[in-house]
Amino acid sequence: MNAEGLREKIKNARAHQRMKILHTIFPCFVKALFLMPFLFTGTDLWAQRQFTRKVHKSLLTEIDRSLAASAAQYKLLAKKLPADRFPVTYYAASNKLVTSGSEPWVGGFYPGALLYLYEATKDTVLYAEALRKLKYLKKEQFNRTTHDLGFMMYCSFGNAKRLAPAPEYDSIIINSAKSLVSRFSEQVACIRSWDSDAGRFMVIIDNMMNLELLFAATRLSGDSSFYKIAVAHANTTLKNHFRADYSSYHLVIYDPKDGSILKKQTVQGAADESAWSRGQAWGLYGYTLMYRETKDPVYLQQANRIAQFLLNHPNLPADKIPYWDFNAPGIPATARDVSAGAIICAALLELSAYVNGKTAKTYFTTAETMLRSLCSADYRSAPGENGGFILKHGVGNFPRNADIDVPLIYADYYYLEAMLRYKKR
Ligand code: GLY
Repeated sequence: MNAEGLREKIKNARAHQRMKILHTIFPCFVKALFLMPFLFTGTDLWAQRQFTRKVHKSLLTEIDRSLAASAAQYKLLAKKLPADRFPVTYYAASNKLVTSGSEPWVGGFYPGALLYLYEATKDTVLYAEALRKLKYLKKEQFNRTTHDLGFMMYCSFGNAKRLAPAPEYDSIIINSAKSLVSRFSEQVACIRSWDSDAGRFMVIIDNMMNLELLFAATRLSGDSSFYKIAVAHANTTLKNHFRADYSSYHLVIYDPKDGSILKKQTVQGAADESAWSRGQAWGLYGYTLMYRETKDPVYLQQANRIAQFLLNHPNLPADKIPYWDFNAPGIPATARDVSAGAIICAALLELSAYVNGKTAKTYFTTAETMLRSLCSADYRSAPGENGGFILKHGVGNFPRNADIDVPLIYADYYYLEAMLRYKKR
């Protein structure tokens, strides 16, 4: 072989060697990319374990005490309720228990709260009361006049199924999801919240909470259209409901013809440009659940951004229970909203498991502060008081002067959820 031939041979051997290395490394690289989400999940689980060790015994004791007292309160409440009615709030001044039928958005919280209490105490009296109420609630699976079906049918039947799976619960969940998606518009890429005149398509931030029902329906039915509608709704909301600081508008009104935005405003907040506390809480919980269900990092980022807005806000009090609006006039001489506090607390406990290090610690310790506040006499009712509700100091609709500084059934529900989430750590 001449020198030229030898050089060619060496060149070929080197090229072959390079290809061999590439073939070895490339699949590893692809695998690493593929495994990235699972690796992160692993890290999250590690972070979760690390925090499990830091669960405070004193707080667990407080929680157990509160759960026992809450069970006793709900037995009192149950005694005062007509069979087909659902508790909403209580006015201490007139000793009036306010109840509703099964159709308003709050219908699912009482059975849901009873199921959480049964889970915590194993008291079958509470379970029997929950099942009694579910019988009156189940007709709402066919209600197409509301977007609140997630609140109504998943906080109730979702928990019932979790505790004692039954085919009837599956079909109720699927039918409820069908009713909910009947309100979806391709043009707007959202589920309609409130019905109004034909020229306005209204979407409120609260609607993020109803998406959990759709993910459950896809799992139960194998029909991915529920999943896709949930994702479309969350993406449109992410694009249009948030301000540059990641606070959110309460209501966005779209043109149903082409999905263009007609107006952004508030209904239950202090002003169109204010941050209504429960609305911020729905957003935080909503994008946390979107990340749980899809593992899309965009939703995790959004939940983190909302959390940063809330936790760094100068108007968030030291006990971490927000005023009814972060920009309410008269702060600090205005009402707190314990429902916003309980929802944020439950959301932070979940979100803290999806992040690491300092961020996870901030979320978790803030949730602990919130739990300590909620368990204290500042917010939790004394035995036999508060009409049988658990928490005091909620705000329903401040601008309408309705239900200010009262117990609220949904505050109780998310408080119980937060306590069980903490215990499960
Ligand atoms: N979804 C109604 C409210 O938060 O008041």
